Amino acid sequence: MLETFSQSRLRAAGAHEISDALENAKIVYFPECPVELPDSADLDTLREHLPAQVERKNASYYPESDQVRGLRKGAPLQSLSRRVLSKHSSVVSDFLNQAIPDLFHEARIGTSSFRPLEEKGRNLKPHASNELIHVDAGAYGATNGDRILRFFVNVNPTENRVWVSKGSFWRLFEKYGEQAGLKGKGHGPGHLDKSAMGRLRTSILQGLSRIGLPQATVIDSSPYDRAMRRFHNFMKDTPAFRDDTVEREEFSFPPFSAWMVLTDAVSHACLSGSHALTLTCLVPLRNCRHPELAPFNILRQAS
Ligand SMILES: [Fe+2]
Repeated sequence: MLETFSQSRLRAAGAHEISDALENAKIVYFPECPVELPDSADLDTLREHLPAQVERKNASYYPESDQVRGLRKGAPLQSLSRRVLSKHSSVVSDFLNQAIPDLFHEARIGTSSFRPLEEKGRNLKPHASNELIHVDAGAYGATNGDRILRFFVNVNPTENRVWVSKGSFWRLFEKYGEQAGLKGKGHGPGHLDKSAMGRLRTSILQGLSRIGLPQATVIDSSPYDRAMRRFHNFMKDTPAFRDDTVEREEFSFPPFSAWMVLTDAVSHACLSGSHALTLTCLVPLRNCRHPELAPFNILRQAS
């Protein structure tokens, strides 16, 4: 599942080499981070002090509002977090524009986050736990079938970040789609189309976001996003799935390595590690060269 791009392979990569790997549910791995990292003194400060200042699992920079959320009120690291995370968002976006220009065309840049806490043993509720294998659903409001692309950097200077996967969405859907209630009766072509009410709701929320309420679209949903949420929850809730170790693979990402994944199509969980940078983007489904591999089209054709 891992497709490794050394610096020399990255330099020589063809126009679609990296994007094809992503669409084929590979984890695109960079042993050496291909983007400039934040200043090391700033990273030291964030690693040392952010864990005591976050009230959520991440400190996240929201580009529409130019604000960081997830920190306790009045947290001293508000301004440093904003500076570091907004810059990271722009350097990663620049890299993606060069590395996967066609796939990334008109992508929506979402949150840029710092995940300071140790993932192992956090005892979160299953649906919020990163330790249970899942595919991502509904990032940043409704995706409507657009792809969720995440770019990660392990900025822990001494410890690996350990991931586990059970393979691609399409393999898991083939095996578990029916059990999850996403195949069979009532799931023919058209079941992912939005109702008139759903379309109205989306256009109202988009209108609100254009007139100064950028967060409005975050509460939008769609039949596709609800189906993905159902599969996400099934994976985390179902003992038969959790206990299935067929095709289970672990990956260790060393300090200062980077990787990127279409997380709607690659099942994943983070078993351990602290201090990671993550940029989330929404890539238009129309940009895919292999649309048949996109979860939207797999769900659409399920019956
Ligand atoms: Fe995830």
